[in-house]
Amino acid sequence: MIRFQSSPKFDKPATIILLDKGQTHKKAFNVITNAVLRDAVKAVIDAGQFHGEERETFPLIVNNKVVLLVGAGEAGKTNMTALRGIVRQAALSSAFKKINDIEVVPHSRDEQAVIAIIEGILIGTYSWDKYRKAPEKTLRPIEKNYILAVAAKKEYEDAVITCQGVSLTRNLINENADISTSDFLEATILGLVRGKKNVAVEILNKKEMKAKGLNLHLAVNQGSPKEPKLIIVKYTGAGKGKGYTAIVGKGITFDTGGLNLKPTGHMETMRSDMSGAAAVIGTLKNALALNLKTNIIFVTAIAENCIGSLAFKPGDVFRGYNGKTVEILNTDAEGRLVLADALAYVEKNYKPSRFIDLATLTGACVIALGYDYSGLVSNDDELAKDVLAAASETDDRAWRLPSYSEIKDYVKSEIADLKNVGLPKGAGGAITAAEFLRSFVNDTPWAHLDIAGTSFVDGKGRFYYGHGATGSGVRLLTAFLKNKE
Ligand code: BES
Ligand code: ZN
Ligand code: ZN
Repeated sequence: MIRFQSSPKFDKPATIILLDKGQTHKKAFNVITNAVLRDAVKAVIDAGQFHGEERETFPLIVNNKVVLLVGAGEAGKTNMTALRGIVRQAALSSAFKKINDIEVVPHSRDEQAVIAIIEGILIGTYSWDKYRKAPEKTLRPIEKNYILAVAAKKEYEDAVITCQGVSLTRNLINENADISTSDFLEATILGLVRGKKNVAVEILNKKEMKAKGLNLHLAVNQGSPKEPKLIIVKYTGAGKGKGYTAIVGKGITFDTGGLNLKPTGHMETMRSDMSGAAAVIGTLKNALALNLKTNIIFVTAIAENCIGSLAFKPGDVFRGYNGKTVEILNTDAEGRLVLADALAYVEKNYKPSRFIDLATLTGACVIALGYDYSGLVSNDDELAKDVLAAASETDDRAWRLPSYSEIKDYVKSEIADLKNVGLPKGAGGAITAAEFLRSFVNDTPWAHLDIAGTSFVDGKGRFYYGHGATGSGVRLLTAFLKNKE
């Protein structure tokens, strides 16, 4: 947890002091009000042991307290991505292993920098250790108390809340696929909205989907013993007369690829194929906690893509909710199928003013953009601009890919209206998948974020994220929705 106090007190068993380069002396002496500590720091700086370079650290023990000097780099030129990483590294320092209360003294009161420090602590120290051997009585980094030496203000409290939504999203993704199921996601959503007055929930299970004709969604779930679910939460934060932003998440709780089975090396992280839905749920938590004054429809399209005798089959044709037929040429291209029905259903029955969908949709997007930028495709320049603005405000990065009229042909089928794959060899796979989705939206401005690369770190970590789910999309969506207030 993070608390704020207007000035440093140096009364905790541990202190992180961020100092930037150049001004190290001056800053240190302005900031460090405790005389003993100030002398100790002065000695280190005078001896040329610490300069405030980015990522430089110097540990001290002063009056039996652990103090870590941390370099923030050139004054006024802080790279916020680096700053989050610096704070993460400091907070995870082994010196703090047994210490639960840590004061953090920022190098700057710049609002962006303070928010980056908050995110460095809360996002940076997150780790999924539920299935590790229980650590001896020490708190997980994220459960420790961080006392940030700046006066509280709404922007900072909001940043803390937003990070809690990010953590929820990460937990939902990191959890086992047979725990984080459609029932579990439903219970999570219902838990969040319980007792809220400006919220209405609609849930379509298999029975309702059959009655209403969401046959693309049903096809994907055919091989699974679990319930498919389309969960729609209508949140009226701005009053009834205003338009709604619909955010729609792909919620494949596990993607085996179906009968077009994924090979070893491609399936191990596929419990993360519900990252879009998880980002929608984290954003729902944030919208409620921040009491956002805007109207939002939160949509999660949930299914499990299994193998087995009941699984849907390559070559089969299904008719979707909007009446269009789809030839299944690869059962591993399942995300676009559940999203197609979700988009069509929500557009017809809720008439949102705009759509943003989030999906771990294509490996092709990972090839195109790597792990640091989500792929954005949109039919509306204004909406795309607003999404990119929210992405750059939050450093929850996105990069726009093209959408153009001729691309329609690439998803046309010989025997049905559409096919669920694009060009041979997966050429342009991210934009042909997006085109498939676009063809299920009529006139509504729509933006699609392919988060296949950004949602999960399969390795030691990158930037300020450790191994596992990153919660990509949550900060972006929360900022986007705030900007609509
Ligand atoms: N869930 C995958 C996409 C994915 C790949 C997400 C890597 C995260 C990391 C999706 O359902 C899929 O398998 N897409 C296929 C589509 C193809 C068969 C047209 C792909 O990208 O290979
Ligand atoms: Zn797939
Ligand atoms: Zn998938």
